[in-house]
Amino acid sequence: EGYVVGVDLGGTQLRAVLADGTGKILARHSTLTLAQEGPQAVLGRIRQQIAATAAGHPIAAIGIGAPGPTDPYQGVVLMGPNLPGWHRVPLRQELETAFGVPVFLGNDANLAGLAEHRYGAGRGCRHMVYMTVSTGIGTGVIVDNQMLLGRQGLAAELGHITIDIQAEEGDPPMVGTLEGLASGPNIARRAQHALRRGATSLALELANGRIEEVTPPVLQQAAQQGDAFALEQFRVAGRYLGIGITNILHIFNPERIVLGGSVWLHCAPFLESSLWETIRVRAQSSEYWQKLEIVSAALGDDVGLLGAVALAVDGLSRGEAR
Ligand code: BGC
Ligand code: NA
Repeated sequence: EGYVVGVDLGGTQLRAVLADGTGKILARHSTLTLAQEGPQAVLGRIRQQIAATAAGHPIAAIGIGAPGPTDPYQGVVLMGPNLPGWHRVPLRQELETAFGVPVFLGNDANLAGLAEHRYGAGRGCRHMVYMTVSTGIGTGVIVDNQMLLGRQGLAAELGHITIDIQAEEGDPPMVGTLEGLASGPNIARRAQHALRRGATSLALELANGRIEEVTPPVLQQAAQQGDAFALEQFRVAGRYLGIGITNILHIFNPERIVLGGSVWLHCAPFLESSLWETIRVRAQSSEYWQKLEIVSAALGDDVGLLGAVALAVDGLSRGEAR
């Protein structure tokens, strides 16, 4: 049934692969997104990447994931927190006009969830939630082996569930959502604030005394050396993630949670115990967690690409040519 091109449009990197119908990757290309240049320039680069990746092979479809709320039915990227100027960009129409094949579009975390479910750490699960903890927090929810989309495809934006409304009047004021409290930049922001208030940490030495350079990787390094301040930052973040996951357990009752994203993949050892402790304390019944598995994503950097491939392959097999 021919080849498909899968595209992972990220705030920083724009990557594309050529794959066959089983998800086997045959060629790959990547470039910088240069999102600050705006949607028209980025669209041009997406077209170039697809053309370079297909490189003369006949392609049957294109799948693409976008890092923000995305309407998969209309094929429109509604906005991108890390894509300046993206408001209701009709990405599907643009690409169908350019390449003359069906194009399938989805939210990045939805597609990552699809890929982990099909090819990775979620294989064999009927009910699974994927969560990426990175610059943003995004999720993909699989219910009864199906990706949950909702009316406009806007379901499963679980980084935006409110966790602690009081944090908004806190010191520093933080947006009280899961993403607002536990994403990489927000973990760093809370730590930097405490350091400005005089807290001491090895992290500050590792950043050569520059508070604004205390990033999640620096905190990770300090935590690895047993620094109490850095460990506390991750304990707090793990607690927020645990609250978010407890909410998810009460809504979806999944058998497995698959966690990915750079913050989780590098810092899991420092997040895990407060995360689990929070779940055990807060779940309404131990039934929710006794057989629950919380595992790390298995597909690494390719997760978004494989999700885009899976979306295109599924779209074709459903005969959803447009
Ligand atoms: C966006 C999600 C996205 C996530 C990860 C969040 O800020 O709202 O749509 O999946 O970041 O990129
Ligand atoms: Na999502």
